[in-house]
Amino acid sequence: MTDDRCDALVLFGATGDLAHKKIFPALYQMVARGNLNEPIIGIAFDDWPLDTLTARARDGITNAVGTIDEAVFARLASLLIYVSGDYRNQSTFDALKTAIGACKRPLFYLAVPPSMFEVVVQGLQQSDLAKGGRLMVEKPFGRDLQSARWLNSLLHVAFAEKSIFRIDHYLGKEAIQNLLYFRFANSFLEPIWNRNHVESVEITMAENFGVEGRGKFYDEVGCLRDVIQNHLLNVLLLLAMEPPAGRTVDDLIDEKVQVLKAVRTLQPADVVRGQFKGYLEEPGVKPNSPVETFAAVRFHVDTWRWKDVPFFIRAGKNLPVHVTEVVVRLKRPPLDVFDTITPDDANYLRFRISPQVAVAIGARRKAAGDAMVGEPIELFAVDDDSGDMTPYERLIGDAMNGNAQLFTRQDASEIAWRIVAPVLDDPSPPAVYEPGTWGPREVMKNVGPPNGWHETSD
Ligand code: BG6
Repeated sequence: MTDDRCDALVLFGATGDLAHKKIFPALYQMVARGNLNEPIIGIAFDDWPLDTLTARARDGITNAVGTIDEAVFARLASLLIYVSGDYRNQSTFDALKTAIGACKRPLFYLAVPPSMFEVVVQGLQQSDLAKGGRLMVEKPFGRDLQSARWLNSLLHVAFAEKSIFRIDHYLGKEAIQNLLYFRFANSFLEPIWNRNHVESVEITMAENFGVEGRGKFYDEVGCLRDVIQNHLLNVLLLLAMEPPAGRTVDDLIDEKVQVLKAVRTLQPADVVRGQFKGYLEEPGVKPNSPVETFAAVRFHVDTWRWKDVPFFIRAGKNLPVHVTEVVVRLKRPPLDVFDTITPDDANYLRFRISPQVAVAIGARRKAAGDAMVGEPIELFAVDDDSGDMTPYERLIGDAMNGNAQLFTRQDASEIAWRIVAPVLDDPSPPAVYEPGTWGPREVMKNVGPPNGWHETSD
């Protein structure tokens, strides 16, 4: 804990879906670990008594953790205050001010739709609450470069950049932290981690479910905006960045921004878009919507280390498995000394990000028998992830403590939009794929690793 720690948490959107599914379970875990003792002021439009919010929090926590520890829940409930009101009314902010009382450094967490950001930030500023406080903003952060710039200038009227925490929950995942740690804590990787040895890099985020009742939201964003421009591009940065020069927050972020600057702006030929069969019948989806539920993208990272090594990202809804992983393929040996090694059999490193945290090395060994022929094996190390902090727990704690290392800085929030700008909002219909398959197979061959995608299973 630091002197600089926030002395209250103000949760805008306290009755919403995100609060129910992710934020209250995270707060419960923070209380359980003794990491949260400050007042939690929930605020939302619903005219609920505090008991109703408490019951809803309990429901979300039960869904997430199973059996509740009553002593922990009682501690959490004792911290909870609820303010209801319309964010457009000054009286709502007056009531918030009363609830905040003598607290000097609240963390204002905007778990509300982006259309509400402006009105909430203005309300905070006009009621003099922003001063001294911090602001945590949920994704999506804008929908293109222009809107992200506009949003940044709006936030900066009320909060200094060092007080703004743009959340990408992917960066709070244990496995993502491990990726960064593994890269820079093991010397055996460095000699091969470059264009001389790496043939291609692929990042897969497969979900075996559809839009789960979020059709209206999803139809406004699509796969590129929902997970590629933010979560998966961040994974790419961790794989491609140089070691940070020091341990300060900006040292790490500076290196990520260096890579972002070197990522070439995408062109239509770099992207394949798909839509699962049945998407158009989802509630909230526009008739004949051209929005993609799947995308495969080729990125070019024009740095000294990575020039000409393609980085591929594929992500989608209704794919065969629920897995996120990275495969770094190495070039095949220069000569076939014993048997023929196909590019498919060459060495690789595989980082499983979910459902478990795992690292694997794909190698070859001699197959038992007379002949000097080999077979592929995988050396696999898996971690038990049962006690891990959830991303929301880690990130809310970091923002309360003023640690911005895992958040998106203003420059990064804008450059990421520059990269994807030309391929957003393509009005042409995406290729249709059957639910439970790996996307639109017939067009996939245009964008993929030289020897095909790694066979990802769960
Ligand atoms: C969210 C997206 O940001 O990330 C969802 O809006 C996606 O569409 C989710 O399902 C995936 O996150 P996680 O942590 O469940 O893998």
